[in-house]
Formats: sequence, C-alpha cells, structure tokens
Amino acid sequence: MRKRILTGITTTGTPHIGNYLGAIKPALELVAPDNDSYFFLADYHALIKQTDPKEIEASVKNVALAWLSSGLNPEQSHFYRQSDIPEVHELTWILNCSAAKGLLNRAHAYKAIVAENIESGGDEDKAINMGLFSYPVLMAADILIFNATHVPVGPDQAQHMEMTRDIAGKFNHTYSNVLTLPEAIIQSEISVPGTDGRKMSKSYNNIIPFLSTEKALQKSIAKIITNSLEPGEPKDHKNCTLFQLYSLFANAEEINNMKLSYKDGIGWGDVKKDLFTAINNEIVPIREKYHALKEQPDLLNDLFSDGARKVQPQAQELVGKLRELVGISKIV
Ligand code: TRP
Repeated sequence: MRKRILTGITTTGTPHIGNYLGAIKPALELVAPDNDSYFFLADYHALIKQTDPKEIEASVKNVALAWLSSGLNPEQSHFYRQSDIPEVHELTWILNCSAAKGLLNRAHAYKAIVAENIESGGDEDKAINMGLFSYPVLMAADILIFNATHVPVGPDQAQHMEMTRDIAGKFNHTYSNVLTLPEAIIQSEISVPGTDGRKMSKSYNNIIPFLSTEKALQKSIAKIITNSLEPGEPKDHKNCTLFQLYSLFANAEEINNMKLSYKDGIGWGDVKKDLFTAINNEIVPIREKYHALKEQPDLLNDLFSDGARKVQPQAQELVGKLRELVGISKIV
C-alpha cells in the first residue's frame, strides 16, 4: 500500500535549529515519489498557548518559510494550513464523542501542568483551558482526516499517537472500520542542547536561531556556556554542549578530528569558530532561500489557497462518510 506521510508543526514562535533537525529535516527526508506527503501548519493548536494575534501571524509565516526554505516542494507535497480545512473541526467533534475523558486525563502535557498546580498549592485546573485538555483530539483529527498511514513526530508526541489510534479504534468499533489507524515514526531522540546546555527550547530562552543573520548565529554561539579550561588544557568532549552541537552538523571525519583536538587542548574560542562554520555551511542555502521567499508578498497566501484546494475535497469526503455513519445526513 502507498504510504501517506503526514505531519504538522504548531505555529508558536520562530523555528530554531532544534525544530529544523528534529522535525523539518527528518520529515522532508521521507518525501519520495512512491509516497504521498502532507505537511501542515497547526495554527489552531497554537491558540492554546498564544493569545497575541500578531505572534500567531508571524509564527505562521516563519514556520511556513522554514518548511519551504528547507526544501519542501509544494508541487510534490501537500502543504496547507490547518485553519483552511474547517472539516478538521467537524471531525474533532465527532472524535470527541468517541474519546474517553479518562484517556485524555492521562495526557503527559496536561498531567504535568496539573501536577505543577498541585505542587504550588493552587487550584489544580489553574491556567488549563479546554484546548489544552482536548489537544490530542484535534491532533487525531488532523491525522485521521487524510487517512495518514505514517506520522513522523518527536518522542514527546508518542503518547498523542497512541491516543489517535485509540480514538480511531473506538470509533471504528462503534460504527464501521473506516478510519485508518496511523503508525508513528518516532524520530530518534536527537538531543539538541541550547546555549545553556539544557534541551533547546523557546521557553528556556536558549535557542540558536535558524533563519537569522550570520551575525545573530555567531552571537548565540558566543553565548554557549563552557567551563573555564584554558587553551592548551586537554578537554573532555563527553557532555560538552559545543561538541554535541558540532556532532549534529559535522561529518564523521570532522567529528573524529574534533575529538582529537579536545584531547590536544583546543581553546573554546576555536571550537566555537568551527561550530559556527559547520552550522553556517548547512544553513547558508536555506537562509538565502528564506530571504528570497520573504520578499514575495503573495507567495504564502497563494500557496495556502492552492494547498487547501488540493486537500479539502478529501476532507469533505471523509467527513461526509462519517456523518452518514453516525446518522447525520439526508433523511430517507
Ligand atoms: N502536536 C505536534 C507537536 O507539537 C504538532 C501537531 C499537531 C501534529 N497536529 C499534528 C504532528 C498531527 C503530527 C500530526 O509537535
């Protein structure tokens, strides 16, 4: 059977090199002539955490440009905005009526916030909106609406994928076997450390930007925390943020040479220079494309309408079928 790859990115914030390495690049590597691919911007998911409309709009633009500059070809893949396919919400409601509340109670992201609230002695539902609680149902609808067979996601989304299968299985059991149970392609845990050594994340303020200028890239690399060993003193490459980042961009030979340089006492300034070169070499063509695309005013709106035109009939077909199955259709 033909594989149908589908994945989305929530449009909050500006993509950083962690998003590029962990989500965009591996997803694009799955595009092949004998696969269908669906890549979309999960802009309704973004409303859960972001209430500033300007931020939402800026993020949609940047995430879309990040996909396109990294090589997404809209002729070859389906590329669209979640919000342009309102059938996703119709399906979300239908699935809400199959999804057990107990299942959603167990979602890690939701449970973590409840646990924090309890720890701080406050109301356990503090700052939890229904969007956050039912996030996995909207995600299930994103996937099931296009009969996706394979969904590349990070390890943090594995539970959401299980939930999608659960919810689809329950619907199929109740009505008829119509929803495709998707397989998760869990991208191997590549840990991308941020400038402070913790996982790179916008919420830690430790990101290395990806679509920035060279200067900004240099600046964030300069900020990476090291120990105080002097040039000439042997250094340990293990558990070293600079080395970890370098390994994500360099080839095997360069990585080996860098290990030897650590033993020989390379100075931190020189490691940072080499890291800059390694990241920059990969990013230069992407950055150039980004700047070129950014200058085309109607590009994204045109792509979004083309994308919606291509995929919406499929969404309508599935939702039509489900409406009939549940008894909401023409009276006979
Ligand atoms: N939850 C995903 C994330 O934060 C984004 C997402 C929304 C998604 N809908 C999806 C990913 C459907 C894959 C398929 O990373």
